[in-house]
Amino acid sequence: MADDSRDKKGFRSREWFGRQDSYGFIYRSWLRNQGHTAEMFDGRPVIGICNSWSDLNPCNGHLRELAEHVKRGVYAAGGFPLEFPVTSLGEALMRPTAMLFRNLASMDVEASIRANPIDGVVLLVGCDKTTPAALMGAASVDIPTIVVSGGPMLSGSWEGRRIGSGTDVIRFKEAVRAGTMSLQEFMAAETAMSPSTGSCMTMGTASTMASLCEGLGVALPGNGAIPAVDARRHAISFEAGKRIVAMTHEGLRLSKILTREAFENAVVLNAALGGSTNAVVHLLAIAGRLGVPFSLDDWDRLGSHVPCLLNLMPSGEYLMEDFFRAGGVPAVLNEIASLLNGNALTVTGRTQAENNAGAVRHDERVILPLDKPFRAKAGIAVLRGNLAPSGAVIKPSAATPELLVHRGRAVVFTSADDLKARIDDPDLPVDKDSMLVLQNCGPRGYPGMAEIGNMPIPAKLLREGITDMVRISDARMSGTAFGTVVLHVAPEAAAGGPLALVRDGDMIALDVPGRSIHLEVDDAELERRRAELKPFVSPYGRGYERLYVDHVMQADSGVDFDFLVGGSGDYVPRESH
Ligand code: FES
Ligand code: MG
Repeated sequence: MADDSRDKKGFRSREWFGRQDSYGFIYRSWLRNQGHTAEMFDGRPVIGICNSWSDLNPCNGHLRELAEHVKRGVYAAGGFPLEFPVTSLGEALMRPTAMLFRNLASMDVEASIRANPIDGVVLLVGCDKTTPAALMGAASVDIPTIVVSGGPMLSGSWEGRRIGSGTDVIRFKEAVRAGTMSLQEFMAAETAMSPSTGSCMTMGTASTMASLCEGLGVALPGNGAIPAVDARRHAISFEAGKRIVAMTHEGLRLSKILTREAFENAVVLNAALGGSTNAVVHLLAIAGRLGVPFSLDDWDRLGSHVPCLLNLMPSGEYLMEDFFRAGGVPAVLNEIASLLNGNALTVTGRTQAENNAGAVRHDERVILPLDKPFRAKAGIAVLRGNLAPSGAVIKPSAATPELLVHRGRAVVFTSADDLKARIDDPDLPVDKDSMLVLQNCGPRGYPGMAEIGNMPIPAKLLREGITDMVRISDARMSGTAFGTVVLHVAPEAAAGGPLALVRDGDMIALDVPGRSIHLEVDDAELERRRAELKPFVSPYGRGYERLYVDHVMQADSGVDFDFLVGGSGDYVPRESH
């Protein structure tokens, strides 16, 4: 995709600022109203600082402060920094789900970069979807790019014990439903879970994606775990500002870093971190923008045998601040160096192996050694069978080992509303061996593939002390969640997948070691049910939701829009006047 002829023509910003005509006058003159001097138009690279700051996205609320440090670095290295806002996706507030808008934000990022005099870009991101959205957009333009993440919040602490973003909301919620925690206590805990700026401080999707940026080679070493409020977060922002200027001189485009080897490294790292299942769809979508051959099955083939080294929530007990003190992502990358493509090039201009050689693990309670890991064979497993012809995923490190091979009768919910209405019904025909099945919560069905795949355990079972059950859906789950949860079933029910054909009482066999998920109903009966199936009709007649439902691809293709696959490169569009 890289247009190398562009490199020979010099910086693309010259087609704005290098002109001695009325266009050049306009481009320079209006920018001068910000106080920029002639020096800034002398041919130095222009660095876009793509900022997903928003008051509506508290996880990214401090990114304007980080932008100042990036700017200092850009100036120090002789570049011209220009910060611009893009659509921000706040996981906590956005309804029906921030994931619905990931592709929208990626289009914003792509268009904003290409339409403007930008030679290199720093992506300031944090909350879950902001990282993949920005990388997808930047990949479709393919200029030199560095990711700077906002970093995780400080550890939560309540009544003397460590509490983690998301993970403990789920635990507390179940405790209230089980009757072991009062609603009053629950509400009191809300003041203690988010003690500083930054993103969720469990190994949820935000921390997973920030860490995987190191594994992909698109962020400086340390990016994943430095706390949001630590001075070293400012320092790495400054360094990124300096480094992006050099990358523009070197012509080190994103496509030179995001190679097949880089994605392979990220899959291995995700397993070692006990990272989020959401990384599956995000990395598939990013690879799709670059034309890198990378598939759902690569996740299983490359990652499922890799052990998890981290004792972090949701799989374990510690939090990102502990991880940072224990050595952070570089220490993990060094520990698993034998499993990585060490020669993969990174934004430092050095290889993955060179970046992390010598990084030390300082605390074996948090980062365990490769030969005595926290969990063996922990990477994401990809299941197939007549229930998921195009695949489904499960995160064994967050599951109950005894449930990984299980047969049980389906208890079917036809929608998220149906689930909410009936899950705590005392008459629900459910026991601990049942399989909870949720339909119509995938990309088209919800729409936006909501994070509700980790369905609540029925209250009457919680009171019996049941804490986990097999749950199966076309939805996603929060990276902070846990349980024996089969997700991303493809094709989804709303796209006519066999998940839509499951009925109460059907027997389902899950065999994670055997990688299968099978609905024990004969083909003739399934055909009969299919003939009766009403086709999915989206309630959205217009707007972005209409575009989404009409064009979104299935989970095994990364949930991108069909027309966004690939890139259009960094061409300079025609004049505006
Ligand atoms: Fe924003 Fe978790 S809600 S990172
Ligand atoms: Mg999330």
